[in-house]
Amino acid sequence: MAQQIEKVGVLGAGLMGHGIAQVAAQSGYQVVLRELDEATLQKGIAKIEKQLARAVEKGKMDETEAGEVRARIQGTVHYRDLADCDLVIEAITESLPLKLEMWREVDEIVKPGAVFATNTSSLAVIDQAAATSRPQQFVGLHYFNPAQVMKLVEVVRCVTTSEEAFTTALEFARSEHKLAIPTKDKAGFIVNRLLVPYMLDAIRAYEEGVGSVEEIDEAMKAGAGHPMGPLTLADFVGLDTLGSICDVLFEEFRERRFARPPTLRKMLSAGWFGRKSGIGFYDYSGEAPKPNPAF
Ligand code: 3HC
Repeated sequence: MAQQIEKVGVLGAGLMGHGIAQVAAQSGYQVVLRELDEATLQKGIAKIEKQLARAVEKGKMDETEAGEVRARIQGTVHYRDLADCDLVIEAITESLPLKLEMWREVDEIVKPGAVFATNTSSLAVIDQAAATSRPQQFVGLHYFNPAQVMKLVEVVRCVTTSEEAFTTALEFARSEHKLAIPTKDKAGFIVNRLLVPYMLDAIRAYEEGVGSVEEIDEAMKAGAGHPMGPLTLADFVGLDTLGSICDVLFEEFRERRFARPPTLRKMLSAGWFGRKSGIGFYDYSGEAPKPNPAF
């Protein structure tokens, strides 16, 4: 049987965390959104406010409703504010040591019955579960960017996950009107296992001169009906995140299709992380994205 969830903690107010918090608040949950410092927290909250304003503008929500959603989100820089959460979802940087350090602190503070979930895109869920005192109450809840729009949540059961925690996570995702698909605790789960080599192959196709950055993107949009071309998508996901995911997949499977192409490696050395840093395969400094002149 699923546990009752009323209050949800979200760790990290970045690209994924702010969206996960907004979706939970829109679904009626009380949300505690935790960031490292006040400035980063306010940036995340501003993104939520912007999306709520857009929803009101488009007539998808009225002002009162948007105000209620905003009021359900409590921002904090302290772990102690998560103490009475029923579910805690982490969406911090994709680094196992950082996640483990964070869970050790959170585990001491949050009430014993609460379920913990990681939004990891590729790391094995068990590696985080085992670092807590409640590995049976640990699951993966993998959202997709933008979390407010994308229908899917992969619900990952690791070897220690209890039936109750798994059902709780499934029911929680469904209560947010998401399509909850159960997956095994296998690096990349379903989507990233297929999507990441596709984006890496697009980079290799560019390297081999098959097409320009724009031609590759336009071809996949017009020829395969994708909403975004693979290189635009790589910028959108974040090239740093893509790099971390492919490293984990390569480590796990040792297959060339998961290896970092040289272009990605060099872009990361240059600090080009895609849309979030203002430059990647495209330059986002103006009104509309323009091709990065380096390509
Ligand atoms: N937050 C909230 N809503 C957003 C949004 C955001 N960040 N971005 C777009 N939207 C909403 C818009 O308000 C609009 O809503 P409406 O239809 O009700 O008016 C709708 O989404 C469509 O947006 P736009 O008209 O501005 O633009 P597009 O039609 O180009 O859609 C897109 C934007 C939804 C991002 C679409 O391009 C898309 O689906 N792209 C592919 C995204 C994708 O593949 N994501 C998965 C990445 S992989 C991942 O996340 C896994 C991780 O582990 C790496």
